[in-house]
Amino acid sequence: MNEFIKIQGGRTLSGEVEISSSKNATVAILPAVVLASEVVKLYDVPDIEDINALVSLLGKLNIKVEKNDDNFTIDPTDIENVVLDCDEVRKLRASYYFMGALLGRFRHVRMLYPGGCNLGPRPIDLHLKGFESLGAQIITEGDMIEINAENLVGNEIYLDIASVGATINIMLAAVFAEGRTVIRNAAKEPEIIDLSSMLNKMGAKIRGAGTSDITIDGVSRLKGCIHDIIPDRIEAGTYICMAAAIGENVTVKNVIPQHIEALLSKLEECGVKMEVGVDYVKVFEGKDFKAIDIQTQTFPGFATDLQQPITPLLCMAEGESHIVETIYPERFKHCKELSKMGAVIDVGEAKSTIYGPKKLHGARVRATDLRCGAALIIAGLMAEGETIIDDAYHIYRGYAGIIEKLRGLGAAVE
Ligand code: EPU
Repeated sequence: MNEFIKIQGGRTLSGEVEISSSKNATVAILPAVVLASEVVKLYDVPDIEDINALVSLLGKLNIKVEKNDDNFTIDPTDIENVVLDCDEVRKLRASYYFMGALLGRFRHVRMLYPGGCNLGPRPIDLHLKGFESLGAQIITEGDMIEINAENLVGNEIYLDIASVGATINIMLAAVFAEGRTVIRNAAKEPEIIDLSSMLNKMGAKIRGAGTSDITIDGVSRLKGCIHDIIPDRIEAGTYICMAAAIGENVTVKNVIPQHIEALLSKLEECGVKMEVGVDYVKVFEGKDFKAIDIQTQTFPGFATDLQQPITPLLCMAEGESHIVETIYPERFKHCKELSKMGAVIDVGEAKSTIYGPKKLHGARVRATDLRCGAALIIAGLMAEGETIIDDAYHIYRGYAGIIEKLRGLGAAVE
């Protein structure tokens, strides 16, 4: 079924918007519950489709999830290590975290290869090499993958790329490995710190999360815990870009500004006026934006997930802006959709050039992936006339309550 979002553009947004908990932290934290021998309580779980898919996967493993609004009580005591071969695995990139978690807990996992947003090639070779370094054997048959280990033994693992997914997956597998595992050139994203602090509350011995050397000393059991998930830095960044483009005195609340420093300094360079508080960012009315150059990088550099949402704002900026994408060279599908709305953007190899200022007009466009959808929402709000965004399900995968939040800011959206 094609779900679409319809926007009447051109209304100035104002007021407050509260950011939900981090999608990319939660999608690692839920599979991590597989490692617990007791109940885990999570507060403020974001109400998004990716989480619903993960909850359904937990159900297949006979892990009980009780929801009380956004608070989850998760009971893994009767867990069963079944084959994960259902649709949710195909739809969801983060289903690969069950590989590390089930391998760690049971020394055996059989599941489909994970799916997720189409951002070009997304290999998992580093995850698998990490498992092998801990002593696992990997068998692939078509789109099924089976990983077995008689025993997992800690090792020193150097990642060729500081991959978020590989770092987390190796952490999950190594928590119960014998002895010490050291991940070198580990990813440093805040979601990794959040997962590590949850695992440590449960009794794991992980040091160095947030740096490029993570040390995991194996333990034999993890207990339950209560955990509050960090705010979503990409959702925050998306609303800040939106406020800069079409807002006047918009306060984005529940933000950790240190998580989006690269975005904030690029917006400042562009001419966006903001007040940055301890846990909020207030964006004032903006005009006369200047073109800027961006290069996506791993944390704390400019997040690849925000290069799409900032693009509509750059359409308003005077001059030529350049975006160089070093993480996902093909992550530019939003540019073709934006050009249907009057944007002028050249896409080259792993880069885009945005020519501004251009006034956008409403059009029928398609969310090809989650952050493309976010960019189109911002463009639709800026544009004159009506915009219809097809395949809106991509957007619901990662933005909690987006329709209500937009309406709260005064947007005409349905
Ligand atoms: N890579 C490999 N081999 C691997 C793993 C990664 O070559 O085994 C490459 C990738 O192809 C990519 C780079 O390494 O070029 C970085 O990929 P990474 O593994 O860091 O990304 P990921 O774990 O698949 C997570 C987020 C993405 C976010 C990236 C980068 C989750 C579930 N996904 O993906 O989020 O873009 O990190 O920060 O945490 C999104 O939220 O819209 C999203 C796509």
